[in-house]
Amino acid sequence: MFVIAPSILSADFARLGDEVGHVVAAGADWIHFDVMDNHYVPNLTIGPLVCAAIRPLTAAPIDVHLMVKPVDRIVPEFARAGANLISFHPEASEHVDRSLSLIRENGCHAGLVFNPATPLAYMDHVMDKLDLVLLMSVNPGFGGQTFIPSMLAKLRAARRRIDRYARASGRRIRLQIDGGVKVENIGEIARAGADTFVAGSAIFGAARGDDPNRYDTVIAALRAQLETR
Ligand code: DX5
Ligand code: ZN
Repeated sequence: MFVIAPSILSADFARLGDEVGHVVAAGADWIHFDVMDNHYVPNLTIGPLVCAAIRPLTAAPIDVHLMVKPVDRIVPEFARAGANLISFHPEASEHVDRSLSLIRENGCHAGLVFNPATPLAYMDHVMDKLDLVLLMSVNPGFGGQTFIPSMLAKLRAARRRIDRYARASGRRIRLQIDGGVKVENIGEIARAGADTFVAGSAIFGAARGDDPNRYDTVIAALRAQLETR
């Protein structure tokens, strides 16, 4: 039911393959892959080449979070590079419905990402094309920022929309949260309705790869909070 998706943005990029292996061995469900273009967001990270490089190292789904503009050109490249899920920000696409369809046509699950100030209404007319809704609980661009508390109310509102749609359609859309998720707050984030949790600095910051056993400890602590939520 709950998915924990470590964001490799906070991993040691000089040892990225090992980091991916260690974090999956420690219990990660998905690998969250943050793509930034220094245009839509003020930071520059990794692209399809790196996705293709880590693809053979794990059977875990690769969850690609595009923070790029434009969106459509890069979608088939990530699909070819082995992405399982691709999500994008509606502000970065001229045609949201088209971009969602394109992701599915390329064989991936599709997600729409909401910045803290982006209204949830963007999902209203595309529910049938969504596999995941991602709420940003920080402004996109950097790891290690603080969770914005008003995103708890937004999560509750998104949960209501998704549940209403599930009752009508029988189809379940995942509700993912990204930014500032820690052992200390994951319980209340789950109570607000999230079922899929991105955590970067909370997981990789614990060890920076020196002691991969630390990843077990953090992921177990996150799960323990989810069990007693
Ligand atoms: C921010 C990224 C996040 C980030 C989360 O733009 O989308 O995935 O890596 O990092 P933490 O968990 O450190 O806030
Ligand atoms: Zn992300």
